[in-house]
Amino acid sequence: MPRPRRSCLAVPGSSQKMIDKARTLPADQVFLDLEDACAPLAKPGARKTIVESLNEGGWGERTRVVRVNDWTTEWTYRDVVEVVEGAGANLDCVMLPKVQTAQQVQALDLLLTQIEKTMGYEVGRIGIEAQIENARGLVEVDAIATASPRVETIIFGPADFMASINMKSLVVGEQPPGYDVGDAYHYILMRILMAARANDVQAIDGPYLQIRDVDGFRRVAGRAAALGYDGKWVLHPGQIEAANEVFSPDQSDYDHAENILDAYEFYTSDAGGKRGAVMLGDEMIDEASRKMALVIAGKGRAAGMTRTDKWTPPAE
Ligand code: GLV
Ligand code: MG
Repeated sequence: MPRPRRSCLAVPGSSQKMIDKARTLPADQVFLDLEDACAPLAKPGARKTIVESLNEGGWGERTRVVRVNDWTTEWTYRDVVEVVEGAGANLDCVMLPKVQTAQQVQALDLLLTQIEKTMGYEVGRIGIEAQIENARGLVEVDAIATASPRVETIIFGPADFMASINMKSLVVGEQPPGYDVGDAYHYILMRILMAARANDVQAIDGPYLQIRDVDGFRRVAGRAAALGYDGKWVLHPGQIEAANEVFSPDQSDYDHAENILDAYEFYTSDAGGKRGAVMLGDEMIDEASRKMALVIAGKGRAAGMTRTDKWTPPAE
């Protein structure tokens, strides 16, 4: 089962205080950042802080990720070598920002394999999260999603993306002023989602920078969740509960999905008459309904939800 990633908490790798706080917060994933949340002069020190913090433990069930710098900088290889040699046993994934080609993912894959072999770690265990942050990356997204079996997620990086395509807006997640005929992000979000779903990896929405505006966060997160995204970045503790809620089904949908699965299993069985399309209450359900129900039930189970209403087969 894929890891839960409803809320992916960004934490500057240079801040011991924020790293310590992250261990207490209910985010599904924490990523310790060596890239844009870490000033150039702070990066070497942050590598050490990150290694120590991962090895100290206390991360519970949270997925532990480190974002390294992108391959166009001089920092990437040292980020990877220092962090993975130092704490590879306590790290789940490496996030690679500003990915533009499949080769960039393969380069990271090769480097990880070398380190795993040298250090005696299990080869291939550490996953890759690929951030799409410019036009070139989006055009190449299918190849990026299949570049390595390590790829677990494709992430939309809206801030860098908007800058890279010259979008006339400074507010991430909000529509660019002057664009009044729809959602300026729809194509990008859908393109990434298609590449993710076609290749069985997760699709994650990036940050919402107005951290005090939790309603705004909910609105933007709700759009990505409605399309089918698996989760979204959170930059502040106040966004975590909202993300966990928005990317989990609500209780009645979860109960309904589990009931569809039970009813469909019963009616397609010998005991239920081997039927393919049946009525559940006022609704006709068939194999396609089962597939839709599996998605909602899967999200609910991953979120640890329990049923409050259980369908039972009709009495003889
Ligand atoms: C995240 O990295 C972004 O650029 O939005
Ligand atoms: Mg970025």
